[in-house]
Amino acid sequence: MPLVCLTDFQAYAQEHLSKSTWDFIEGGSDECFTRDDNIAAFKKIRLRPRYLRDVREVDTRTTIQGEEIMAPICIAPTGFHCLVWPDGEMSTARAAQAAGICYIISTYASCSLEDIVATAPRGLKWFQLYPTSDRQLNKQLVQRAEALGFKALVITVDTPKMGNRRCDFRNQLDLQRNLLLKDLRSPKERHTTPYFQMSPIDSSFCWNDITWLQSLTRLPIILKGILTKEDAELAVKHNVRGIIVSNHGGRQLDDVPASIDALTEVVAAVKGKMEVYLDGGIRTGNDVLKALALGAKCVFLGRPILWGLAYKGEHGVEEVLNLIKNEFHTSMSLTGCRLVAEINQDLVQFSRL
Ligand code: FNR
Repeated sequence: MPLVCLTDFQAYAQEHLSKSTWDFIEGGSDECFTRDDNIAAFKKIRLRPRYLRDVREVDTRTTIQGEEIMAPICIAPTGFHCLVWPDGEMSTARAAQAAGICYIISTYASCSLEDIVATAPRGLKWFQLYPTSDRQLNKQLVQRAEALGFKALVITVDTPKMGNRRCDFRNQLDLQRNLLLKDLRSPKERHTTPYFQMSPIDSSFCWNDITWLQSLTRLPIILKGILTKEDAELAVKHNVRGIIVSNHGGRQLDDVPASIDALTEVVAAVKGKMEVYLDGGIRTGNDVLKALALGAKCVFLGRPILWGLAYKGEHGVEEVLNLIKNEFHTSMSLTGCRLVAEINQDLVQFSRL
């Protein structure tokens, strides 16, 4: 049977991955309230279609940070792709390049940055940093990503420590031991012990350190995980260039709002001074349209990319991206939008349920 929606890929992945890998991907923190609310919250938003418009030609292209992408649907950073498919992030990067969209590569990628860039040299790539307590290593990573042609630096701010992922505890998942992680240092500086194991996430990282990072690089800095107007205003003050409204797919602090519910507050607070993006719970073309209508410039997919990777590697990720892009094209046509720029808040209303 053909796979006709993203949740078909989810069912395939569940059937074919080991229990501990499936639980690692799917899991949220604590009671998984926010993970599930990310999806439920989209269902509280209804569409207000406009008809009798000429929609023979619908164009899904847009730009982020000045770069053109073929659709406002990109790939969120997720670690350890080699758990799911042997070629890991290299397959994901080739699929992203073929689709003409942006791929944010995680600090915890299981392939080296050099290999990922070599396999998909033309794809738009951003680098996601979990700041480690080793400042020198942060500096090296940032400068290495810039030298390799990454176009933006994404700092994940919602992880001063890992959330309580109960399934991973039950499965006694030990990613560091079970997986041959790439070494975070550049090939020249490696000794024998992987640095990853010695450099935990820096839980003291704060706003002043954003200024420090800005002094190291000319790349635009984007903060991933902002959920409140207070932090959005601070991001404006610190000359940050973009925000990804995100709750880490419900894997960090549980009981925070669904990403789509936090979006409006953040968009209002930045007053157009930077681009705002969203991830969390995007599963259909209509979800993409709703997020854009509420002010996101583009959305990022986390788990659905891993489901595609589990299905057929690079080609599975391409299928997932094409499928949701086609759904989004239909959503635009059926609401009367010919251009992404025509999507606005008049297209949505909140249901009372
Ligand atoms: C993630 N996420 C994540 N975020 C990040 O900044 N760095 C990372 O290395 C990871 N790793 C990671 C692994 C796995 C298995 C998942 C599911 C998620 C969070 C990710 O970027 C994104 O915020 C969410 O996945 C978006 O929600 P959906 O699309 O999965 O609902």
